[in-house]
Amino acid sequence: NGFFRVWAGALTEIFSPIPVRREDRLEPRLLGRVPNLDRAAALDALSAARATYDRGRGQWPTLGIVQRAAVMREFARRLASCRAEIVLLLMWETAKSRAEAEGEFDRTLRNLDEALEEAHNLVASGEIAVREGISARCGRAPRGVVLCLGPSNHPLNETFATLVPALLMGNTVVLKPPRHGVLLFRPLLALWRDLLPPGVVNVIYGEGDEVLLPLMRSGDVDALAFIGSPQVGQSLVQVHPRPLRLKSVMGLGAKNAAVVLPGADLQQAARECLLGALAFNGQRCTALKILFVHRAEVSRFIDLFLRGLRAVRWGMPWRQGVWLTPLIEPHRPAYLRELLADALRQGARILNPDGGAGAGPWFPPTVVSPVTSAMRLWREEQFGPLVPIVSFDRWGEVEDYLEQCDYAQQISLFARDAAQLDPLIDSVVNQVGRVNLNCKCQRGPDHLPFGGRKDSAVDTLSAREVLMALSLPAVVAARDS
Ligand code: G3H
Repeated sequence: NGFFRVWAGALTEIFSPIPVRREDRLEPRLLGRVPNLDRAAALDALSAARATYDRGRGQWPTLGIVQRAAVMREFARRLASCRAEIVLLLMWETAKSRAEAEGEFDRTLRNLDEALEEAHNLVASGEIAVREGISARCGRAPRGVVLCLGPSNHPLNETFATLVPALLMGNTVVLKPPRHGVLLFRPLLALWRDLLPPGVVNVIYGEGDEVLLPLMRSGDVDALAFIGSPQVGQSLVQVHPRPLRLKSVMGLGAKNAAVVLPGADLQQAARECLLGALAFNGQRCTALKILFVHRAEVSRFIDLFLRGLRAVRWGMPWRQGVWLTPLIEPHRPAYLRELLADALRQGARILNPDGGAGAGPWFPPTVVSPVTSAMRLWREEQFGPLVPIVSFDRWGEVEDYLEQCDYAQQISLFARDAAQLDPLIDSVVNQVGRVNLNCKCQRGPDHLPFGGRKDSAVDTLSAREVLMALSLPAVVAARDS
């Protein structure tokens, strides 16, 4: 109808991480097809976003926040009615359990509400200042065209974390859904078509190199909102011809450590570490990816950890109470086996009898120790249910790890009391984005700033911060007569 265009190309097949069993073989399960765009079609989508942004008065970018918020509120209301369909697609496309899928959907709606509230506060605070004979009205203006890319592990919530603020602040958007978690955008297309003016949200599909690099090379992307690997983030930013004009907001990789100190409550530490390392198969940027346990506590900690592990259920996403399900990315189990083989070759042992190997999309939870700095598992982000345990003697060993690590998102410290924790907090608080005391690493509660240092983040991903990042000050000043 000309109001909203999905740019069509040849079709590409979308498979579920959950295979189908035919006789004695596991085969890929086809879920659907989406258009596979070429470079020209992707650039057309970008031109549509650009033209809509530039078109001038009365269009989305120049509407007041009150009007845009009203549209987004109605969008949220209609989105709520798609819950059953989207939860099911989340389960099939990412193999997450029903509880995780429902959690992601509900969290997305809550965050949308919070972004609406924060946007209102931001605009309401536009003060009139009179100083040196000048009075001024200070508002926020959109940046322009935002390229919005979310990850496969939380395709809905993490895409909306930047999409919603981008729209609320009046930007136009080119959006490429993640490779796993693409079909669930279909019900959304109809909502956007009905609610938004043409050219405001432009959805593209296709291979990253084919469709994303040309968009970045064109120089017409004003802001890149990306959640995924640092390698992809870097490859996109570096081809932009005018990097000084590009704003980036990114959530990237992490290798979050837990540190269990002498005298810590080991029951609590083992419980939190288990959840932190293995929830959703460890496929979370916020997962605990290496556990440092003081030598004085390590054998009792391992006992408790393994006891907890025996109670962890795995199976298909529709089974009640499962934590561990098929891995999202087809290459991931082989990669985990490589990291494991490298650690075993260099002297580590598998501590749980059913750890290792796996088949098809499965990789069983596997606990390995001792892990040393010579092993790949020390520095590479495994993003799966492979848990390295390091036994340490001195706090300086943890500091060395943090210094060498390419990432700096969060850390968890488990200790007896504040007297033990306080000096350690001082030593790490300026090195990572968040310090968790006697609890696992995580993103939530989502009103807290969520970012990190080094290759973990560029800018901050919570609602208020993204609203600020995807907008600029708009000042109207006049001589006070
Ligand atoms: O993978 C990154 C997500 O932001 C993780 O969120 O800590 O709630 O699992 P989470």
